[in-house]
Order: sequence, then structure tokens, then C-alpha cells
Amino acid sequence: MSAIIAPSILAADFANLQRDCELVNNSQADWFHLDVMDGVFVPNISFGMPVIKAIAKHANKTLDTHLMIVDPDRYIKTFADLGVNVLTVHYEACTHLHRTLQAIKAEGMQAGVALNPHTNVSLIEDTLKDIDLVCVMSVNPGFGGQSFIENTYKKVRTLKKMIMEQGASTKIEIDGGVTNKNAVQLVEAGADVLVAGSYVFRSDDPTATIAGLKELAS
Ligand code: DX5
Ligand code: ZN
Repeated sequence: MSAIIAPSILAADFANLQRDCELVNNSQADWFHLDVMDGVFVPNISFGMPVIKAIAKHANKTLDTHLMIVDPDRYIKTFADLGVNVLTVHYEACTHLHRTLQAIKAEGMQAGVALNPHTNVSLIEDTLKDIDLVCVMSVNPGFGGQSFIENTYKKVRTLKKMIMEQGASTKIEIDGGVTNKNAVQLVEAGADVLVAGSYVFRSDDPTATIAGLKELAS
């Protein structure tokens, strides 16, 4: 089965959001990846609810929202009401992760957990069956356009093994620095979802770049 390709709107042209949403709609991409940053959990502020509302009006694919914010529980219902399908919170931002995951599911969304590069995958072993998606950060969260951290392959292999051993159906998503140089190796290691921002939107032909990634990931 081919991996899901999720272009990150963080790298889109915010003055032409409708155009870039249509581009993703009409491409071989599977999901929209939406990065919400609060300037506290990460040293950058991206966009929030009004922008997601605008994107949701045009996007006709799964909305995969990655919350890089402290205390995400405050906004779970808000994101559900905006039409978000997959809501990912950071392991490092949740004191009561299990409760947060249940709250996300209770709102009818799939529940994701993102792991910073320094966070060992073993820390989610006891809650893996409650997690629909693990977002393995392959850069330090906060900015697009950073270089891929090579240790990610090892993390993905360990996580995949853990998922298989538990018979869980958790998907593995890779976020940060994904390009044609690492896509194949990531899928071989066990990745199910590839997020790509700069590699897609800074290319001359984003539609062809998405198609190329999809091909590599199949
Ligand atoms: C980083 C974000 C990523 C980012 C990826 O904090 O979570 O989703 O948009 O961008 P690229 O693909 O440019 O590394
Ligand atoms: Zn992201």
C-alpha cells in the first residue's frame, strides 16, 4: 500500500491560500497537514482557527492538524467544530495524555501524538493502542525548511516493531525535511504518512512534486 502524502500548508502562499488548497485538491496528495504554533510550546507562531476555517471551506481532503501548543485540551472541541479529521497533540505538551486522546476521540476525530526528536518512542508504549497516529518529528518543531534528522529511521523502525507486537493499527507519520532523498527509506522503515512542506511548495511544479513523492512512496 502506498503511503499517504500530506503537503504542509505552512509552506503555501498565505496570500493565495485558496489557489494552494485547490492545488492540493487536484493533486495526488491524500491529506492537508495544518501546523498550529503558539509561540510558547515552539518559538514561532503560525496560524489558528480563522485560517483553518478558511482552508476547510476549500479543502476536500482529510484535515490533519498538528498542534504545537501548550495545554491543547482547551481547543479540542473547537478544532472538531472546524472540521478537523486528525488532531495531533505533542507528547511533551500533555500531562494527562491518555485523557487528552480520549477527549479527541469523543469529538469524533482521530487522535495523534507527536514526538519531538529527543522523545523516545518507548514513552508511548503503554498508550499505543489508544493512538491512531504517531507523528515522528524529523526536525525540531517550529519552522519549515529545516534539515531531516537521520536518527528518525531508527525511531520509525523501533516504533513499527512496537505497533506490530501490540497488534495496534497506529499509523506512523513523518514530519520535517521530507524529500525525494529520504521518502523511500522512510516508507521501508515503516512510515505510513509523509508530510512535506518546503519540498512541495518551493518546487517549480508542486503538483508534479507531490506525484513524484506518491510514486516513491508506493
Ligand atoms: C514543523 C512542522 C512541519 C513543517 C514541515 O514544525 O510541523 O509540518 O511544515 O515543513 P518542511 O517539510 O519544510 O520541513
Ligand atoms: Zn507539522
